[in-house]
Amino acid sequence: TGYITLDDGYSNTGSCQSDVTFIDGEKGILRYRGYPIEQIAQNSSFIEAAYLVIFGKLCNQQERDDFADLLSENAPLHQSMLKHFDGYGSNGQPMAILSAMVNSLTAYDPQVMHPEDENDLVYAAASLISKVRTIAAASHKTTIGEPIIYPRKDLKYVENFLHMMFSTPYSEYEPTPEVVRALNMFLVLHADHEQNCSTSTVRMVASSKANMFASASAGISALWGRLHGGANVAVIEMLQKIHDEGVDPSVFMNEVKDKESGRKLMGFGHRVYKNFDPRATILKDAAFDMLEKMNIEDPLLDVALKLEEVALQDDYFVERKLYPNVDFYSGIILRAIGIPLDMFTVMFAIGRMPGWIANWKEVHEDPKARIYRPRQVYQGEVDKLWVPRDQR
Ligand code: CMC
Repeated sequence: TGYITLDDGYSNTGSCQSDVTFIDGEKGILRYRGYPIEQIAQNSSFIEAAYLVIFGKLCNQQERDDFADLLSENAPLHQSMLKHFDGYGSNGQPMAILSAMVNSLTAYDPQVMHPEDENDLVYAAASLISKVRTIAAASHKTTIGEPIIYPRKDLKYVENFLHMMFSTPYSEYEPTPEVVRALNMFLVLHADHEQNCSTSTVRMVASSKANMFASASAGISALWGRLHGGANVAVIEMLQKIHDEGVDPSVFMNEVKDKESGRKLMGFGHRVYKNFDPRATILKDAAFDMLEKMNIEDPLLDVALKLEEVALQDDYFVERKLYPNVDFYSGIILRAIGIPLDMFTVMFAIGRMPGWIANWKEVHEDPKARIYRPRQVYQGEVDKLWVPRDQR
């Protein structure tokens, strides 16, 4: 197997050609379908950004309205599907519930498995984007032991999610404009990020001709880990620990630099960005803005700022070009909205759904797409002789 080149962790392998997202990691540039992330974050709702990422163009009013109608139509879950939640109890992990339920959706609506034309595909995409939000909110209600709240037809995407998360049978939750804006921005900034671990997982699964929902469910599982989407939980746990135990950030940083400790500065570093992650820059400003407007003081923001300050002046981080990534400040915003920690990675999954769908669609629509089948460099033993069990 001498002809096989090892590319550990695929850091230098272009696994596909794609038109969806562009990143220049040296310059800190991110674009969806050619549009700079700063412009999209400033101007777009999550649904507009989702449409752009999936269908490759800015939607006009008619397209926006039609897509919104499909989202509303697809928001409720099949009545039988609601019974799944009863089985999980209050210790259910929302990420586990989410990936299982997204895969289960095809059992209730088999037509989404085989989109035959553009209309079918728009329907399947709208169904997945809409239902992932309903499942997410219902899994939260299940884990806190409250009744599931049904979606409302009159609410927009983000408002409807907040309603299902925070309304109760006795009270209707009414979000402030700051909360709606911040959550839209959070989701927009997570909408796609080229061939990250979960998206390349989606493409891998899609390459066997698996359906959109099965592929997205695999993406959710890949996202769960702490080096990927789970980092947004790990960051808050780290900040909280430093805060609660009164650890000096410089002392904490020494532990991080000591490789023996196995510690990392969570929310720092990136495979592609060797400069500021533009999403982190936007989220940091948004976090300040939001806390000020909502009149909230979050001591964890102060800890984060201090850690960033120490890291950016430290040779270890400077030499390795480690900067804050999207997960470093996003948790501050989610906390201010009132999202509980065990839902943070679920929020990332809702946001990333358009990117997964767009990448699934590229694989699905490419007549020349081949099954993903990387090779390996075998390191094991060879030519061994079988030993009967009584002689081992
Ligand atoms: N803290 C301390 N050292 C770090 C960190 C960190 N956060 N990140 C990288 N390093 C060191 C690493 O130990 C290595 O040092 P050396 O060259 O001495 O062995 C060097 O920097 C290069 O890092 P790497 O591990 O080869 O980088 P990678 O591209 O394989 O991993 C990463 C990228 C994001 C997994 C990693 O930076 C990391 O674990 N960061 C913390 C977890 C995190 O924040 N993940 C979210 C990523 S962004 C959003 C997403 O994808 O979900």
